[in-house]
Amino acid sequence: MNDFHLSPSILSADLGYLVDEVNKVLDAGADRIHFDVMDNHYVPNLTFGPQLCAALRKANIKAPIDVHLMTCPVDTLIQPFADAGADCLCFHPEASQHVDRSLQAIREAGCEAGLVYNPATTLDGLEYVHDKVDRLLIMTVNPGFGGQRFISAMMDKIQHARKKLDELKMSARLEIDGGVNANNIAALAKAGADTFVAGSAIFGTDDPKKAIEQMKKALSTVR
Ligand code: DX5
Ligand code: ZN
Repeated sequence: MNDFHLSPSILSADLGYLVDEVNKVLDAGADRIHFDVMDNHYVPNLTFGPQLCAALRKANIKAPIDVHLMTCPVDTLIQPFADAGADCLCFHPEASQHVDRSLQAIREAGCEAGLVYNPATTLDGLEYVHDKVDRLLIMTVNPGFGGQRFISAMMDKIQHARKKLDELKMSARLEIDGGVNANNIAALAKAGADTFVAGSAIFGTDDPKKAIEQMKKALSTVR
């Protein structure tokens, strides 16, 4: 039994029916929920904040919620999202003035902490904070929008990230975000990823349940 996690991104969900949409993907076997926070500053798009996260908890959504902060600054949103019921907070290192401090603040707020690397960002410096990182999120598109095409050069980067995690003896999960679908998910897993965000390939289809089943089936062929 492998330990792959599938994390649908609500960015592509029908927001008018968000609770139903989330329950649908969880019933279909999704492991966690990916919550994209965009601030129209760090990225050229605007989405949702802690209130919506709290609303999902109030609506009895129990699954882990991973907050992907595409915001600058980072620190002022940590406690509000922790209070709103988030389980994990990931941020882009270049958006924080003090990466080590932000990582510590996330854990002190009771959440898992993650770093997100844009396609053109190297993993330099990870060795200095390795004991404070629970999750490494590799962007395989440029952040800001759903439905973009997977950047193929990222396959090498995923392998490099896996090697680096192993060298540093880190147990952090290696997560992929952007352009993930049933056709490439097995290759991503073979490259060393264990957690997969997918927005349009799940919520953008007529049958999200089937999309999840196809992804899980593809993953079942790995390892
Ligand atoms: C992009 C977001 C992604 C987005 C992925 O900035 O971080 O989480 O929802 O969408 P797809 O799966 O459609 O590429
Ligand atoms: Zn994301």
